[in-house]
Amino acid sequence: ASRGPLAGRRVVITAGPTREPIDPVRYISNHSSGKMGYAMAAAARAAGAEVVLVSGPVAIAAPVGVEVRGVVTAQDMLEEAGKAVDEGCDLFIATAAVADYRPDSCAADKIKKSDEGMSLSLVRNPDTLATIAGRSDAPFTVGFAAETRDVERYALDKLTRKKLNMIVANDVSAPGLGFNSDNNAVIAFWPQGREAIGPDTKSALAQRLIALIGEHLNQKAGS
Ligand code: PMT
Repeated sequence: ASRGPLAGRRVVITAGPTREPIDPVRYISNHSSGKMGYAMAAAARAAGAEVVLVSGPVAIAAPVGVEVRGVVTAQDMLEEAGKAVDEGCDLFIATAAVADYRPDSCAADKIKKSDEGMSLSLVRNPDTLATIAGRSDAPFTVGFAAETRDVERYALDKLTRKKLNMIVANDVSAPGLGFNSDNNAVIAFWPQGREAIGPDTKSALAQRLIALIGEHLNQKAGS
């Protein structure tokens, strides 16, 4: 049997961007590379957990020993994450940068350009993290928050509003950190405290975050 602070635990992690199709050749997305989520998955695995990684389209390899389930849209992510949690989950970590909106429909054929301007009609996407955290059998839930200003205020607001056990805030306005880089600096907030970690590599940050999450999870479970 594996050892470590998460031995015997089942962990589901979301990572990467989502893509919201406009037509057969175009989509709306963002700059997430998946690096933070894949680093969290590798660290959780190293801590002894069984890990399912629900991943949007990224260009990085799966960590050894981690099961990756690929998704494209925010709606796919909600469905796959829900299934993975149904299979049994002690800890849910949402690092994905999910598109908040999608085009209200995907055109069947490539949209042709004209001399006119063009506008897209967008509708809200479902929130995977809030949905999982709101379940009656909710696992220990950890969200990430990418902000460019008022990092602490917005992070604490998400902690309460989405009913999370912990939120990890990163200031993505800082150069060389956050989206797509190998490094990050974060502050983890939970209802009774906080810890600032980094700047450091995403791999080192993930190891510290997993140790911290493990302490809280094991306290909560009384084991
Ligand atoms: O992938 P990298 O290039 O390594 O970059 C890492 C990162 C910057 C993307 C990552 O560290 C990060 O901050 N992820 C959260 C991105 C974000 O914008 O979060 P948010 O503030 O929109 O959402 C808050 C939380 O709710 C997140 O845990 C998010 O995964 C979750 N969420 C949001 C919307 C939605 N529809 N479903 C969700 O599950």
